[in-house]
Amino acid sequence: ATHRIAVIPGDGIGKEVVPEGIRVLEAAGRRFGIDFAWESFDWSCERYAETGAMMPEDGLAQIRSHDAIFFGAVGFPNVPDHVSLWGLLIPMRRGFQQYVNLRPVRLMPGIPSPLAGRAPGEIDFWIVRENTEGEYSSIGGRMFEGTDDEVVVQESIFTRRGVDRILRYAFELARSRPKKHLTSATKSNGIAITMPFWDERVRAVADEYPDVRTDQYHIDILTAHFVQHPDWFDVVVGSNLFGDILSDLGPGVTGTIGIAPSANLNPERAFPSLFEPVHGSAPDIAGRGIANPIGQIWSGAMMLEHLGHADAAAAVMAAIEGVLTTGPRTRDAGGTANTIEVGTAIAEAVASA
Ligand code: NAI
Ligand code: MG
Repeated sequence: ATHRIAVIPGDGIGKEVVPEGIRVLEAAGRRFGIDFAWESFDWSCERYAETGAMMPEDGLAQIRSHDAIFFGAVGFPNVPDHVSLWGLLIPMRRGFQQYVNLRPVRLMPGIPSPLAGRAPGEIDFWIVRENTEGEYSSIGGRMFEGTDDEVVVQESIFTRRGVDRILRYAFELARSRPKKHLTSATKSNGIAITMPFWDERVRAVADEYPDVRTDQYHIDILTAHFVQHPDWFDVVVGSNLFGDILSDLGPGVTGTIGIAPSANLNPERAFPSLFEPVHGSAPDIAGRGIANPIGQIWSGAMMLEHLGHADAAAAVMAAIEGVLTTGPRTRDAGGTANTIEVGTAIAEAVASA
């Protein structure tokens, strides 16, 4: 069957790394007999500058029946970041009920890691971030703006349905792994209404998973454990804000932020899921052809997995690890190669393995 993929390169280096992701996915498709139909959309800050909108009004309707969305990055200095984020990425996450944001934290070969003395394999866990509610809300407002009496309020929203479904996803993932260990990020000492509710739901859902070992930490000490004991973790689940912070910290600790992938998943498959690198549009290096394409390519591997091609996904991961070990590498990874050279090397490794 042919997979219809909506391609949104976005801004900056998004436009440079997305073609390399497609190059590698095409190579995997040729080897494993998978056909892709790529349909490209120019939704971006550039479009905003021309039309006043990041995407057309019926944008979500245009891509809702695609099998997946392959996304680069959005954001550029000509548009405020909250405008680009709320004008494109957040409407897709919410409109398509992509309530799981899934990111791996994995020590990779060939990456100069800040964690001296650790070997690949010692650190290998998943962060499951709630992606549609929580602290990222548009409910609130400003009073007495501009005066000394100014008051600013922004509400957090936690629904039982929203919390339970992300917890169930995380417990299912933990159950599928050898360690069967789930860690919940909380802050129920300071955030005294929503976070005790979160903890309560963790306990309730944990009862359905007696085979999974469950623990929890307040977010402050959890960040310290990420740095000092990253080998403790297997699956870590957190609210929208806590998950967002942890999912940059994890790749930061393993030195992999430039190569880290993510998936925004609608597990029920009622809507397309979205696959994108963790990094942004990197305006500081955009247009020079030197961005590392591995975050995009690894996101492509996650997309293959989601589309039911575990063998092709594994081949792409093996090719990434091979090229990380032997080169070529882009500058951020200590080499001199350009984006296309790295993408081509990984595509060739996929084809010839
Ligand atoms: P960024 O990830 O774009 O860049 C941070 C630093 O990492 C920069 O020095 C950049 O050159 C470097 N870097 C990032 N990706 C790289 C790659 N593939 N190869 C080599 N070096 C790489 O984050 P920043 O600077 O905070 O944000 C820039 C813009 O991107 C902003 O407009 C922001 O809102 C947007 N952004 C968008 C995201 C998305 O589309 N999901 C995620 C994060 C930021
Ligand atoms: Mg983030």
